[in-house]
Amino acid sequence: MNAATPLPTASARDTTAFLLDVLIPTAAKGPLMRRPRVEALAERLNLDRRAVTRMQKLEEKYPGGPLLLRLPIRKQAVVLLPEHLHAVLAGSPEPFSPASSEKRGALAHFQPRNVLISTGGERTARRALQEQALDTNSPVHRLASSFLPVVYEEADALLASIGDGDGATTDVLDWDLFITSWLRIIRRVIFGDGARDDNQLTDMLARLRKDANWSALKPQRRKTRDEFLRRVQSRINTAAPGSLASVMRGISEQDPAAPRDQVPQWLFAFDTSGTSAFRALALLSAHDEAAKKAREEIDADTTGGRNLPFLRATVLETVRLWPNTPMILRQTTTEVTWDNGTMPAKCGLLIFAPYFHRDGRRLPQADTFDPGIWLQDDVVDVGAREDWGLVPFSAGPASCPGRHLVLLLTSALLARLLQDTSFTLEGASRLSPSRPLPGSLDNFSLRFSPRPR
Ligand code: HEM
Repeated sequence: MNAATPLPTASARDTTAFLLDVLIPTAAKGPLMRRPRVEALAERLNLDRRAVTRMQKLEEKYPGGPLLLRLPIRKQAVVLLPEHLHAVLAGSPEPFSPASSEKRGALAHFQPRNVLISTGGERTARRALQEQALDTNSPVHRLASSFLPVVYEEADALLASIGDGDGATTDVLDWDLFITSWLRIIRRVIFGDGARDDNQLTDMLARLRKDANWSALKPQRRKTRDEFLRRVQSRINTAAPGSLASVMRGISEQDPAAPRDQVPQWLFAFDTSGTSAFRALALLSAHDEAAKKAREEIDADTTGGRNLPFLRATVLETVRLWPNTPMILRQTTTEVTWDNGTMPAKCGLLIFAPYFHRDGRRLPQADTFDPGIWLQDDVVDVGAREDWGLVPFSAGPASCPGRHLVLLLTSALLARLLQDTSFTLEGASRLSPSRPLPGSLDNFSLRFSPRPR
């Protein structure tokens, strides 16, 4: 193939179909701050299923890819094959930079110097700091003995607030109750106990994230952003020993690693981890066999919640089914030559994770809940499944540095909740094992009735 031959380009009609079925519904859900009404609509209309089907049709019509879209201003391609997905992720940050224009526009609303939108030496320094703080390569974070008691205390308080015991205020576990508890865990893990009730911090971030949903289309609220970042810095300055942010304490604000701007990503991404934990609880409530395995693991645990492979695999499988980051974005820094043509420099690349995660042509169990696919000899494989293109935490040098920590905390939370309690999911038929699982699962509408085990 002549290096100058351009890649195949979708017709105007196929580009429009892609925008209507894939891009617009996904963006409408709110990439940075989910919009509950759109989530509900997406589940009701099974919009994600439609998106996957559209991607399959594009691949059948334009085999190979990556496929360029016919757009007036932006050069944009979509990735269609698992091997290309892995090539793009392995080739980050050069020539496939994670700092795409849309991401820069979005994240600048609340973390302008974050690793996700940094390049060159600054990216290297910021990534190194993230990996150090998050203990990226350890399945059990070195500060686990500070974090796990926090998870247990808040889980116990949550359980005590439901049911018919003293101090109970409701008999249903719903999203509001769950996320309130989860945000307390996050703030304590990140900054220490003193931040437990700092709702103002998370509320300010929520406001900025809503703006970030519009990327550069919405002007930045500089005053709110500066106030928010000042508050983050002041929390870093007083971070308790044993908290995640304590690592940042001695580092100057002027350091190229920009410690202050790395922390909002934790608040943001931990928040979305709560969504996955809540959905995982729903899956376990609707799948008796998996719930039995989870209970056996919890009962047999001798590691104090550090090593719960089945529950970790459950969370991973939940993220495969309903990815928190459905759109993994890159932008070429130079022209890139593929087998079937050349991609220009400054071309956006979209990896639409639900397509790879739910492609029944490649993955027979695409629409079923099967945590076993992540378990190899009882060890959870949190990396990507090369053969299928499963990338719940992405892959390559820019993959999620918080993946082990997420799995540690969410599995410990699920273990504590399920230890002495059973949860009945209202309307469990929406997740029935005898039917394909829905393309979207609206976490805001999940409600459980707990009862003693
Ligand atoms: C279920 C929860 C989470 C999921 C599914 C998830 C997934 C991801 C994905 C898909 C990326 C994009 C990687 C790419 O562009 O290739 C990412 C990036 C990142 N995540 Fe997570 N994440 C989660 C939670 C967390 C948490 C709790 C933290 C920190 C406490 C975290 C820290 C980061 C950071 C710092 C990056 C940027 C990495 C870079 O650009 O080098 N994530 N995550």
